[in-house]
Amino acid sequence: MPSVLHSLRNISTVVADTGDIDAVAKWHPQDTTTNPSLLLSAAQDPRYAALVEGAFGDSLERTLDNLFVAFGREILKHIPGRVSTEVDARLSFDEERSIGKARQLVQLYERSGVGRQRVLIKLAATWQGIRAAERLEREGIHCNLTLLFSFAQAVACADAGVTLISPFVGRIYDWHKAARKVDDIPVAEDPGVASVTRIYNYYKKHGYATQVMGASFRKTEQILRLAGCDLLTIAPDLLEKLSRTEGQVERMLSPESARSLSIEKTPLNEAEFHFRHNEDAMAVEKLSDGIRKFDADARRLEARVAELLRARRAAA
Ligand code: E4P
Repeated sequence: MPSVLHSLRNISTVVADTGDIDAVAKWHPQDTTTNPSLLLSAAQDPRYAALVEGAFGDSLERTLDNLFVAFGREILKHIPGRVSTEVDARLSFDEERSIGKARQLVQLYERSGVGRQRVLIKLAATWQGIRAAERLEREGIHCNLTLLFSFAQAVACADAGVTLISPFVGRIYDWHKAARKVDDIPVAEDPGVASVTRIYNYYKKHGYATQVMGASFRKTEQILRLAGCDLLTIAPDLLEKLSRTEGQVERMLSPESARSLSIEKTPLNEAEFHFRHNEDAMAVEKLSDGIRKFDADARRLEARVAELLRARRAAA
């Protein structure tokens, strides 16, 4: 009997959600996603000290960009597909500066011989992030819209023609668990799973090209309940669990079943986007919280790099 992971790979594209290069080499995912928190933890790992050392540039900002790209390049050596590199969370509400940062990151990749088709620029799915992505896509810079919690965010991303979205499952589950004061929510009633299912069905029903990548998982049941989703990005500990379980995975999502559903198309202008998103208290809270947390981890990483930079200058 094959492992559940093996079986899942025949139904959905499996992506590794990690900055740990050895884990990427171990799991052979198609693509890999990183974020500031994952890179903070990888950059503190003694195995990757040389990568951090090699990233020093003439400013702190340049050093961080170099670092993100250095991890991305190493990861790409172990996968056939794309790596996602996130734009600084501080720019989440700044369309122009997000575009500038995305271009800089892509330029760094291209200068080191990595073509833009192998990179997904991750931007928070704020209105400004979505507009930035819409313009970047026209330049052939492909985008992954992250911190996606509301249906309104998903609708706006599809209408903007972004390459891929990462609707979060686990953080929605976390919020509802806390709100209901319970230790678990059964997967059949899991609001995070329901959110990705709704988005997937809407996209397939209306023929959107934007890919749906379920993200932020807390347990294997959530992943298996979304089998059939275009992509699923999974942390190494959950990949390990899936690989140790034997079984055949049943397809839960498919374009055919989505097309048989009756779902109205609901495009949103800017005011409608904000109103609809604001209707969803969980999404409002989790998007803000996500931006704050990614920013806090990026600043921790920055402080660590600044410390190393000072020590290097003192020793010179
Ligand atoms: C991936 O793109 C996301 O950044 C990641 O899945 C978030 O996971 P978390 O909610 O466990 O931090």
